[in-house]
Amino acid sequence: MSQKTYYITTPIYYVNGAPHLGHAYTSTAADTLARWHRLAGEDVFFLTGTDEHGQKVEAAARQAGVEPQAFTDGIAADFRDMAARMNISNDDFVRTTQPRHKAAAQALWQRLEEAGAIYLGAYEGYYAVRDEAYYDESELTRRPDGTMVATATGAPVELVNEPSYFFRLSDYQDRLLDYYEAHPGFIAPQAKRNEIVSFVKSGLRDLSISRTKFSWGVPVPGNESHVMYVWLDALVNYLTAIGYPDMEAQRAHYWPASLHLVGKEIIRFHAVYWPAFLMAAGLPLPHRVFSHGWWTVEGEKMSKSLGNFIDVRPLVEEVGLDQVRYFLLREVPFGNDGDFSRRALITRVNADLANGLGNLAQRTLSFIAKNAGGQIPPRGILQEADHTLLAQASALPERVDAAMARIAFHEALDEVWKLIRAADAYIDHQAPWSLRKTDLPRMNTVLYTLCGVLRVVGIVLQPFMPDSMARLLDYLGVGAERSLDSLDTSLAEGTVLPAPTGLFPRLLEDPHAD
Ligand code: MSP
Repeated sequence: MSQKTYYITTPIYYVNGAPHLGHAYTSTAADTLARWHRLAGEDVFFLTGTDEHGQKVEAAARQAGVEPQAFTDGIAADFRDMAARMNISNDDFVRTTQPRHKAAAQALWQRLEEAGAIYLGAYEGYYAVRDEAYYDESELTRRPDGTMVATATGAPVELVNEPSYFFRLSDYQDRLLDYYEAHPGFIAPQAKRNEIVSFVKSGLRDLSISRTKFSWGVPVPGNESHVMYVWLDALVNYLTAIGYPDMEAQRAHYWPASLHLVGKEIIRFHAVYWPAFLMAAGLPLPHRVFSHGWWTVEGEKMSKSLGNFIDVRPLVEEVGLDQVRYFLLREVPFGNDGDFSRRALITRVNADLANGLGNLAQRTLSFIAKNAGGQIPPRGILQEADHTLLAQASALPERVDAAMARIAFHEALDEVWKLIRAADAYIDHQAPWSLRKTDLPRMNTVLYTLCGVLRVVGIVLQPFMPDSMARLLDYLGVGAERSLDSLDTSLAEGTVLPAPTGLFPRLLEDPHAD
């Protein structure tokens, strides 16, 4: 049987500014899913990258007084650095300025043209450079100072009047609605699905897909006075990386993508335009588009004018990488908006990691080091309490898997923490420190049981906190085989354990957090 494939993507990030918490969030979520599916033995392809064309990036380069290519080279490198520092395990990094991408974007264009889905006309209407999006008048609000902004995003719009190629989006209204109906899981969460369905039902107009007022883009094949609309260009990245237009290429079997993970503001591009382009090109549609919420920072929207963008890298230096990864995925139900504050971060890390998991591991492992010869203790006859705890542990991977299938990281973590709390209660109840004086075989059985539980926790949490869980599994003497399947074998009694050190130091409460 051929191995199940799992192709997951992040949006490709605009290189008009440095990477921040919002980008780190999408990437960490996608990384955790990619790692989870690898752990489950699937053939995973995980893609991220940078979106480097368009008016917004061109303007940022101009403002910096640098040629667009040199400018994007610098910022793309910064995004790669952020990914490395967040331990993002992407298999490829696509840049839309790469020749392979230009070739893929032009090939898709030609395909759309051959399919009769493109015509030349003129666009007269509004465009928001900040969102790189066209807006209908009905989607705009007039500010008291007379300027027009997009109601949904607050981005200023300008009136555009220029020759443009159009994609026959209006032809796809019914086909899209039929598709959503036949594939209820295609857009998630449900609220977003409803929003998209009513947007499509309200009527689709043909989409302008080329611009002539600037040149920083992929030239339209056969008419180089036009560059492709940056969103058409950008969406093609998901095909570029698998070798499109060569559908026999080595990675072509990953298509269609299993999941496009995107922020809520870009769902329309992924759930309306992208599937319509793919339908027109005769390509299969991705299985799912999931939209996550937005972070505010200490109650405020992150913005240039407030200067409150959070670069996660100094934060990682300060509180630890896995602590930041954990916080991002645990603090807010995935799909909802959330607020980032130092106080919330410190409270969460101390409660769940230092006092919760870290303390459970340290209690168990340092007790074994001191009182059980620093080895996995021999297991005696199991009692009911042991069976109950071990059964809860064995059920964990499946429960986490179910939550991950719903892209509900917070629920997955909550399942793990239920087990951690049960293990804490078990230690208190079994009191190995008393058994040390009265019943050594029983003490060993209790410690053995705890090691078994910690191993399940360590294995299941690897996708969330790869480095710290690698350490935990080292402390438990677990060898190189650390997949979900490895849980079928029992821990080897007598394995000599290294001296444990604390996994998650307690953070000092921040006196300036208010
Ligand atoms: N270039 C487009 C995507 C093209 S995909 C074919 C783009 N880039 S972006 O850099 O603006 O945003 C990329 C991702 O970062 C989005 O998923 C977005 O939701 C996420 N975030 C940016 N700011 C954010 C927050 N404040 N909070 C959470 N995520 C946010 O859009």
